[in-house]
Amino acid sequence: MFANISIILLALFSTFLLQAKVQAKEQTAYFNPGKIWRDNNGVHINAHGGGVLHHKGQYYWFGEHKIEGLEGNKAHVGVHVYSSDNLTNWQDAGIALKVSSDPRSDIVKGSIIERPKVIYNQKTGKFVMWFHLELKGQGYKAARTGVAIADKATGPYRFIKSLRPNANTYPLNISEAEKQAVAFLLQGTKLPKTLVSKIENLSELKIYARDFAGGQMARDMTVYVDKDGKAYQIYSSEENRTLHISLLSDDYLSHTGTYIRVHPSGRNEAPAIAYHNGTYYLLTSGLSGWRPNPARQYAAKEMMGPWEKLNNPTIGVNPQNDFGPEKTFGGQSTFLLERQDMPGQFIAMFDMWRPKNAIDGRYIWLPVEFVNGTMRIKWREKWQLSVFE
Ligand code: GAL
Repeated sequence: MFANISIILLALFSTFLLQAKVQAKEQTAYFNPGKIWRDNNGVHINAHGGGVLHHKGQYYWFGEHKIEGLEGNKAHVGVHVYSSDNLTNWQDAGIALKVSSDPRSDIVKGSIIERPKVIYNQKTGKFVMWFHLELKGQGYKAARTGVAIADKATGPYRFIKSLRPNANTYPLNISEAEKQAVAFLLQGTKLPKTLVSKIENLSELKIYARDFAGGQMARDMTVYVDKDGKAYQIYSSEENRTLHISLLSDDYLSHTGTYIRVHPSGRNEAPAIAYHNGTYYLLTSGLSGWRPNPARQYAAKEMMGPWEKLNNPTIGVNPQNDFGPEKTFGGQSTFLLERQDMPGQFIAMFDMWRPKNAIDGRYIWLPVEFVNGTMRIKWREKWQLSVFE
């Protein structure tokens, strides 16, 4: 009798496994924005706020591993990594950076680890992961960035440190008047009226000055390796009101103090970078937490600016929620993924957050078109890489 039951259970289990495998195969032939996206085990990919590294013919998708429910918005597991050679079929490659069980660690279980991005350093042969870190029990107050390192793309990554960047250093694009104002603010003296009239975004400059000695806030972020091997971190700073673009050291493990403030009071988050035909493009969102808002784009001839604001790049409507450009199809940008086999061609990656059940967050991946010096990202219900040809 028991033997019979075990045989039946075994048969049921094998059928289930087989179905999951078949489903995994079927689900991954196309990009299906907003839908469940199964990995090689038939499990919905768990890599939110992610970024993709390409290295030696493989793609590696890193992202926040979420768990069920509201708790899923905190780091209980770490940074998940998947690998692929075709961008639609992803193999689960495990947890690249694990949260720590040591309560003294900055990345202890229960901290917040968001928007992890990995770059490869040619000189050192190391993989470097940067992410947004919020210390356990402090909400979003800490506004720090963390860095970890590995010998292999999939890890394991070793956490090195967390910090607020560029303490006691002025950005490249600060004006003389702003510099004088910061000096007054640091001394706690009232600003002369003549100086105030020369400053465009005084409330942001006050936040900037407040954090001058301790280092600048760093929340939503990405990292980018330029043609010359120099790497930059782009992050929301100054209470998310101003983006900073900061040059990293040659080993990509620290900030150099060379940086710019981009559009003070512009309120940009969720930054992503692309380089196409001599122009750098920056894709961002506005600030409305997990809720979607209109995407923005900027262009520049140099990473260190100036960055010119362009139009909202999104076009069309996502029939799953009726959201168009006014809500970025229900998504928020996280990365611009360059095709390894087609340099200059990009897929825009967005997250559809589900904060009440974080693990159920969806992904919107769409091809980027470059039209008259702007990015254009059209909604597509189902598409294949052949759209690039
Ligand atoms: C969003 C941000 C996410 C996450 C969230 C928390 O604005 O882009 O990465 O930090 O806020 O509310």
